[in-house]
Formats: sequence, C-alpha cells, structure tokens
Amino acid sequence: MDKKRVLSGVQSTGNLTLGNFLGAINNWVTMQEQYDCYYMIADLHSLTVRNDPNTLRENALKLIALYVAAGLDPQKNNIFVQSHVSAHSELSWILNCYTYMGELSRMTQFKDKSAKHADNINSGLFTYPVLMASDIILYQADLVPVGEDQKQHLELTRDIAERFNKIYGDTFKVPEAYITRSGAKIMGLQNPEAKMSKSATNLNDVIFLNDTPDDIVKKFKKAVTDSDNLVKYDPENKPGVSNLMQIYGAVTSKSKEEIEKEFEGQGYGTFKMAVAYAVVEKLKPIQSKYNELLSNKDYIKQIYEKGDENARKIASVTLKDVKEKVGLIV
Ligand code: TRP
Repeated sequence: MDKKRVLSGVQSTGNLTLGNFLGAINNWVTMQEQYDCYYMIADLHSLTVRNDPNTLRENALKLIALYVAAGLDPQKNNIFVQSHVSAHSELSWILNCYTYMGELSRMTQFKDKSAKHADNINSGLFTYPVLMASDIILYQADLVPVGEDQKQHLELTRDIAERFNKIYGDTFKVPEAYITRSGAKIMGLQNPEAKMSKSATNLNDVIFLNDTPDDIVKKFKKAVTDSDNLVKYDPENKPGVSNLMQIYGAVTSKSKEEIEKEFEGQGYGTFKMAVAYAVVEKLKPIQSKYNELLSNKDYIKQIYEKGDENARKIASVTLKDVKEKVGLIV
C-alpha cells in the first residue's frame, strides 16, 4: 500500500457551523478514494475550554454522525476518537519537552483564545499545538487538510518533527498542509472580517448545520455586503460579498469567475437568495442522514470502535519507537 496518509480532526465543542463543514469535512470527502485517511474527533482539545460533560460527550457522537452524513464512508476512512487512543496524550507529554515556550507564545490562536477566555488561560490552551502535532506525527501523516487558521500550528508541527528527527534520526514524517480550493476560511455573515464562529454572540453571523431552511434564508438576506451592488471577488475591499462568493463556490463547485459572470448586472438581493438556496439544497440530504444516524448510536459506536482499533495499531508503533529513542524502558 503506498497511498499517502491523511490525518485531520475537528474539536467536539459546540454546535457545528457551515464554516466547519465547508472549511473541513466537505473537503475530506473528496480525498477518501485517493488517500489512506484518519479523521478524529479532537475531544481532548475540547477540554481547553469549560464544557458541560454530557453535552461534550453528545457532541462527539454528533460530530461522528456529521462526518458520515457529509459523505465520509466509514469503510474507507478511519473515523476515531482522540481520547480513545492514549498514545496522543503520551506523545504529547514527550513532545512538550521538545517545544519551546517562545514558540508556543507566538501562536496567534493562543493569543486570541486567551483574550477571549481571560478567566481561564489554562496551560492546556498553551500546549494545545503540541497535542495537535502529536495527533499528526503519530500517524506519520503525509498530508493534513486544514483551514488557513491552522497553518501556523502545522508549521510548528513540522518544526517539532524536524527537531526530533535531527536529534534522534528519522522518526517522524514531516507533514504538509493540504489547503483545498474551497477550503479557505468561511467568515461571519455579519462580521466578514472574522471567521464564522460557533461562539458568535450575534446568531445572524453564523449558519449552524441544523438551521432550518427558513433560518438559513433569513440569515443570508441579512448578510452584510457593501453599497457597490457588484458581485466581484475582492476580499480586501469587499469582504462580505467575497465571503458569500466563497460559500457559494464551495457548495456549487463554481469558480469565482463563473460566479461573477452568473450574477453580472444583478443585485445583491438575487445573489443572496441564490447563495441561501444553494446552501439549503446542499444541507438538506446531509441533515436528514445526520438525524437518521444520530438515532442509531450503536452504529456510531461500531464506526469509532473500528477506527479506534486501526488508529491504535499505527500510533503504538510510533510511540514505542519514540520512547525507545528518548531513553524510556519499553
Ligand atoms: N486544532 C484543530 C482545529 O481547531 C483541530 C485539530 C486537532 C486538528 N488535532 C488536529 C486538525 C490534527 C488537524 C490535525 O481546527
């Protein structure tokens, strides 16, 4: 088997958004034939903020249902739960000792999150990228499909892997980010200067995957644009319209040029409705599959148990090698 290996994950915190879907999972679906894929539920990462325990557990199952509803075939992909593979936590501790405070202090996500959760700047938030590096290099992943916002973490992952390899000889594959055409960041509808976030205080800013068609249409109608009435891709000067184009392009697979042509001479009203309907149509089958899956928890369990087992097999080989190299008795 010389398929390249892919690993990625999403945190199981909160309600999933259109941004999570278009920025991540939707792209993974296109990779399942060509690559050997590992997709995890990053539940350990979710602990860096306070959660209600039952909700967190439920969210992990929901996320698995979403992976499958979105089109990830559980036979072709390894869908697993991060906390079920103890090697993640173990490697993370070891790699903490090969990562510098200065490096972690430079992470923009850490700075953003500490500003947002000023009452809970815990050390997990600080070492979050080390756990993420462990997730990736445990599997000797070649490619990591991530959104723009995770690129810095991936750079750090590469640095840590290279540093370790330099000291102990070839141990880790140095992974590459895989940023897909439609995978770029989806921004908020009310504030298109910031990423669409599930914790947005203005609910019109974000489309949740379980929003009804009515909600979706309403939110797109209210989306912030500008006064040019011109559908043109220009993220700098026209962030609102560019974001809507980005969304429309991601759900219809149309290019920016095609979209500009399609709406030439038409106002924003028509354009917004087209985006809203395209999103509604895209989500409809996913929502119904998702609800069907969620009513069958046994099936979800089967999916992750199989994924967990395959993940453990690979992770344990890497971890043993690392332990030996750093001088632990194995
Ligand atoms: N930090 C990622 C995010 O918030 C989630 C994540 C955790 C991840 N571990 C990973 C993504 C490993 C890719 C690979 O989106």
